[in-house]
Amino acid sequence: MNSGMTMKNAQYYINLEDEFGAHNYHPLPVVIEKGEGIFMYDVEGKKYFDFLSAYSAVNQGHCHPKIIKALINQSQQLTLTSRAFHNNLLGEYEKYITELFGYDKLLPMNTGVEGGETAIKLARRWGYTVKGVEENKATVVFVEGNFWGRTMAAISSSTDPSSYSNFGPYMPGFSIVPYNNLNALEETFKANPNICAFMFEPIQGEAGVVVPDEGYLQGVRNLCNQYRVLMIADEVQTGLCRTGKMLACDHENVKPDLVILGKALSGGVLPISAVLANNEVMLTIKPGEHGSTYGGNPLACAVATASLQVLVDEQLADNANRMGEIFRNRMLQLQTRTTLVELVRGKGLLNAIIIKPFGDNKTAYDVCLAMKENGLLAKQTHGDIIRFAPPLVINETQMHEACDIIEKTILALA
Ligand SMILES: Cc1ncc(COP(=O)(O)O)c(C=O)c1O
Repeated sequence: MNSGMTMKNAQYYINLEDEFGAHNYHPLPVVIEKGEGIFMYDVEGKKYFDFLSAYSAVNQGHCHPKIIKALINQSQQLTLTSRAFHNNLLGEYEKYITELFGYDKLLPMNTGVEGGETAIKLARRWGYTVKGVEENKATVVFVEGNFWGRTMAAISSSTDPSSYSNFGPYMPGFSIVPYNNLNALEETFKANPNICAFMFEPIQGEAGVVVPDEGYLQGVRNLCNQYRVLMIADEVQTGLCRTGKMLACDHENVKPDLVILGKALSGGVLPISAVLANNEVMLTIKPGEHGSTYGGNPLACAVATASLQVLVDEQLADNANRMGEIFRNRMLQLQTRTTLVELVRGKGLLNAIIIKPFGDNKTAYDVCLAMKENGLLAKQTHGDIIRFAPPLVINETQMHEACDIIEKTILALA
């Protein structure tokens, strides 16, 4: 409930955003004021299952007590020094995270897209100074349908017109191959000795939870080795237990040269991102050549350490695996009862269903609206896909309750 003197309803807040905020999002018409574990509550006090987890940033559940405790304690001690001075948390955090993931070094940033930018700068620098790429010719290869954020570099590599149209001119040095196609990747690598890196998501999140064939990750690793190209795994969405392993690349026991983390690295508390790499790559950038005022700040170090510890201590990868099985089984059963559900796919707790257009031009958006009415929040993508990604702390009973809501909603619409 809103604690102000006058009760303000959802429409009041929606109107404010509409009038005073940029129109760069199209949210569902619900106004959230509280989150706890796997649930969110709107300004009218209605409770919802959160099946988006802020695009997989809230893997540990909303306001996880251990993460909030770390936030509060550190915020009363020291929050920011910039990197002009050392702080007493950064080194300990760097030691913890590099040991956890098995890399020599960490470069701390804030948002996911900054992690991507950082990885590309490292790869280009490595290309020129280690691989011997011709001056200003370094190329990074991306895949069709990639999504890694909204900066000029990110949209320059995008194949989605709604990301890049009318924002040109674009950054050079990027090329595109089809996803999940090792032959095309090899042809591209073969044709251009100036390729320094291949950057991709091990499961494509924003593209609609596109899972590559088994063996793809291993195949990418082999080709990167063969053609001396850095393998950059963007695990901003797939990482940190979301798909049932600490990293999605762990499903094929593949170790990328660079890993980008973000989102759940803070459990949804602060923007914290990270690039992990070994010395051969990381030490190509020297003092003064890259950085960020907030990157590696003590508050972020405390929060990220606590967020990682929660993932490990609560064995959230295993839980994501088990709950994901239940979810997909329930959705596959539902598919047998309705023509509305065209396809079910995903791994761990990163899943999606494809909705066939129905009724009077109705789409996945209408399904999301109806689920909201029934107490579950999820968001459509690309018109016909609904992603289902609850916090990883969900238990079996809760998962069945949530699936009951999805089932009831879809069967009523069909
Ligand atoms: C795979 C992937 N990489 C990068 C990003 C960008 O992260 P941020 O929005 O924190 O910049 C996203 C965001 O959705 C993502 O899904």
